[in-house]
Amino acid sequence: MGAMKTIGVLGAGKIGEALLSGLLHGGYSPDDLVFTERYPERAAELTKRYGVRAVDVRTAAEWADVLVVAVKPQDIEPLLDELAPAISHHTLVVTLCAGLPTALFERRLPEGTSVVRVMPNTPMLVGQAMSAISPGQHAVPADLAFVEELMSHVGKVVRVPESQQDAVTALSGSGPAYFFYLVEAMIDAGILLGLPRAVAAQLIIQSAVGAATMLAESGEHPVTLREAVTSPGGTTISAIKELEKHGVRAALLSAIEAARDRSVELGRAHQPE
Ligand SMILES: NC(=O)c1ccc[n+]([C@@H]2O[C@H](COP(=O)([O-])OP(=O)(O)OC[C@H]3O[C@@H](n4cnc5c(N)ncnc54)[C@H](OP(=O)(O)O)[C@@H]3O)[C@@H](O)[C@H]2O)c1
Repeated sequence: MGAMKTIGVLGAGKIGEALLSGLLHGGYSPDDLVFTERYPERAAELTKRYGVRAVDVRTAAEWADVLVVAVKPQDIEPLLDELAPAISHHTLVVTLCAGLPTALFERRLPEGTSVVRVMPNTPMLVGQAMSAISPGQHAVPADLAFVEELMSHVGKVVRVPESQQDAVTALSGSGPAYFFYLVEAMIDAGILLGLPRAVAAQLIIQSAVGAATMLAESGEHPVTLREAVTSPGGTTISAIKELEKHGVRAALLSAIEAARDRSVELGRAHQPE
């Protein structure tokens, strides 16, 4: 790990807590971290669990080298109002807020503030996030390298230009939901075939874990892995024929395109007039 910087997590909800937990597992000391949280009971519970200090936004802004913004996008305006007078332009701002452009932070924070935008996803809660990171206009390569290392404590990281963040949102941001949906439908198929729900769930979940592990570890193309279980005249090809007949591939292409379009639409609300 590079030189340890002090980090303030602004908003310790699901994502903020997962990040704190990942950083502590990754070797950060609780003394190098603080967080802010609106509910005192939640703050006390997190301090008890992780040994990390809860502070107010002003203290976090004055103390931390890096501020990670993990509030809901709809809560960003009041947070920026609080942050703007307290933060120095040497502080690196890392935003995890879905759909909010770096330009919004650059406009509202002191001139020259370095901002890096991150789109993680919910498997961050189990240390298996896929995060895509993009530099704002003042972020230097060292800032990007720092954020890459930071997010690697909770999963995998890829760099993309900010213009691709809507596509990332549609693919990996919403991605886990598509897999949950598929698993849910496949469990239903097990029920249709007369299996007990618990057995169907176990069969499908472990098949999903196994298939994902093969994809991640073998380096093989998904087509190669699928062909390996598709024998001539066999059961798998009968199923594939139905998937093709019902346009599942086209449905996925359209679905992900629709998610991208919606992300663009939501982002428009934060563009300058
Ligand atoms: N969950 C995901 O799948 C996902 C994926 C990618 C990106 N993200 C992004 O991650 C961010 C956090 O999402 P989440 O699911 O963790 O939301 P969440 O559970 O609602 O967490 C947000 C936390 O921030 C607190 N908060 C709001 N304003 C604050 C302020 N001014 N000062 C201090 N704390 C404040 C909230 O407190 P209250 O309880 O009082 O509201 C809440 O505890 C969002 O911007 C989201 O777009 C989430």
